[in-house]
Amino acid sequence: MTIDVQPLPIVHMQGAGKRYGTGAGAVHALKGIDLAIRPGEFVALCGPSGSGKSTLLNLMAGIDAPTEGRALLLNHDFGSLSDVAAAALRAKTIGFVFQFFNLLPVLSIFDNVYYPLMLNGHSRAEARDEVMSMLERVGLIAHYKRRPGELSGGQQQRAAIARALVKRPALVVADEPTGNLDTHTGEEIVDLLLDMNKELQTTFVISTHSLQLKDRARRVIEIEDGRLKRDGQQN
Ligand SMILES: Nc1ncnc2c1ncn2[C@@H]1O[C@H](COP(=O)(O)OP(=O)(O)OP(=O)(O)O)[C@@H](O)[C@H]1O
Ligand SMILES: [Mg+2]
Repeated sequence: MTIDVQPLPIVHMQGAGKRYGTGAGAVHALKGIDLAIRPGEFVALCGPSGSGKSTLLNLMAGIDAPTEGRALLLNHDFGSLSDVAAAALRAKTIGFVFQFFNLLPVLSIFDNVYYPLMLNGHSRAEARDEVMSMLERVGLIAHYKRRPGELSGGQQQRAAIARALVKRPALVVADEPTGNLDTHTGEEIVDLLLDMNKELQTTFVISTHSLQLKDRARRVIEIEDGRLKRDGQQN
C-alpha cells in the first residue's frame, strides 16, 4: 500500500474538456486535461493564442463547467454545485487578476480593494486595516483615495492584485496579467506576484505569452490545441 502524503490539491482536473457550441460550428477548446495544483504552487500556463488557456482558467475557477470530465476546487466538484453554491465557493476561495485590470472606475482604489470583503459581508470599518495593509504591500498606500483612471497601468494592476489577495484566497487565477503592460512594468508585476506567493503562500495560476513569467515560474504547463503538451517543474 502506498500512502499519498501530498496535500489536498487546490485544483484537480480529471479528464476535463470543454466544447463550445454544438454541431458543425462546435469548437473543442480543451480535451482530456488531467492535472493537480497543490497549495503554494506558482504555475505559468503557456501556449499559443487560441490554445485554450483562458478556457482552462475558467474551468479551474468554476466560471465555466467542463463538458467532459471533472473540475474540482478544494475537492468540491463544480459540476455538482448549484450556480449559487459555485458563486459562493468562488467568492470565498478565488481571486482574479485580468489583462485589463477590471477595476471599477467610479470607486477609489481603497474601495476597489475593499469590494471583495464587502461582498463577503465585512463592514468598511472592519476591513480598513486589512485593505490598507494590502495596499501597502503592493506599494499603493499613497494613492488609496485616487480613482483607477488617475493611476498608471502598472499601478492599476497592483491595485487589482491587492483586490485579488485581500480576502486571502486559496487560489489566484490571473489571465495575462502583464499582457497590457510594457516589458519593464510587466517585470515589476511578475516580481510582485512572486513576492506575494512567497510571503502569503497563495497559490497562483497565471496564463501568459511572456517569457519573463514563463522563465521565472516554478512550474510551467503548456497547452496546444486544447491538450496538455508539457507539465514540468523548473528552477
Ligand atoms: N465563448 C466561446 N464560444 C466559442 N468558442 C470559444 C469561446 N471561448 C473560446 N472559444 C474558442 O476556444 C478556443 C480556446 O480559446 P481560449 O480563449 O481559451 O484561448 P487562449 O489560449 O486563452 O487564447 P489567447 O492567448 O488568445 O487569449 C479558441 O478556438 C476559441 O476561439
Ligand atoms: Mg486567453
